Amino acid sequence: MLTHSVFNPVSPQALAISNLFIFIMIVSLVIVLIIVGVLAYTCTHFRYHPGQADPPQTFGLTKLEITWTVIPFVLLVIVFAATMKTVSISAPPDDNALAGRTPDMTIVAHQWWWEVRYASGVVTANEIHIPIGKRMLVALQSADVIHSLWVPQINGKTDSVPGQTNMVYMEADRAGSYESACVEYCGDGHSRMRALVIAQPLAQYQAWERQQLATPPAPTGLAAEGAKLYQQFGCQSCHAASIGPDLTHFGSRGTLAAATLTNTPAHLDEWLHDPQAVKPGANMPNFHLSTKETRMLAAYLESLK
Ligand code: CUA
Repeated sequence: MLTHSVFNPVSPQALAISNLFIFIMIVSLVIVLIIVGVLAYTCTHFRYHPGQADPPQTFGLTKLEITWTVIPFVLLVIVFAATMKTVSISAPPDDNALAGRTPDMTIVAHQWWWEVRYASGVVTANEIHIPIGKRMLVALQSADVIHSLWVPQINGKTDSVPGQTNMVYMEADRAGSYESACVEYCGDGHSRMRALVIAQPLAQYQAWERQQLATPPAPTGLAAEGAKLYQQFGCQSCHAASIGPDLTHFGSRGTLAAATLTNTPAHLDEWLHDPQAVKPGANMPNFHLSTKETRMLAAYLESLK
């Protein structure tokens, strides 16, 4: 329960946001309880009874008016100070922090998936690997409309805007897989535009990186048949051109269809048969493949480790 929520932060930024949220909630709760309590007391205790004379009327209680102006003012100043402190922790890097630094990765939002390009040359999609304990500098861009990346356990929301690069830090101090969603309505596939941030110990991360940079093993048997089909259908004209997700190491991913399905041959089969049925609005065309063809393609794609 609440595993992937803001209440289970894994980075200093998310922790600051979570603490601020809880603090403001407690302050608000106390205010609500006081107001509702006073209101309830007044309603019951000073109830009008038939035949009762009007109570003495008073006007212009300066002391009272100052009191109820000063208390909310002080409360707002406290909340403002707490918010500014959180903002200073979770804020995107400023120009000084960026001077002379190249981003560790660029994430490009597409309708409806995330392209991930590392400075190391690794290109992947929807699964963002990071080494634990390292503050990764991420450049966020968009290929089409405005999207917004939110990994609740790692940081606040950052918009990805066409023609603009927004910088954001991404770090996790605990190994794990953290769910993310697109949080700016971007069309049909918006609700299925998911991603995973996979935080790993450095050695594991480096092993993953090496694997991603290596050429996948040559396909054999059914997979080799699938590789031929892949050429025939011209899949690479989208999948190797940033129009669709890069599939070079597809078999090494845990999920497919923008992290909405686990990567199993059965799910891949389902996807290849009718992408729109799995993810309405998806830009992947339906090639009306036969069961034999989807099996061959699935065998090929799953072999791409
Ligand atoms: Cu992308 Cu909503």
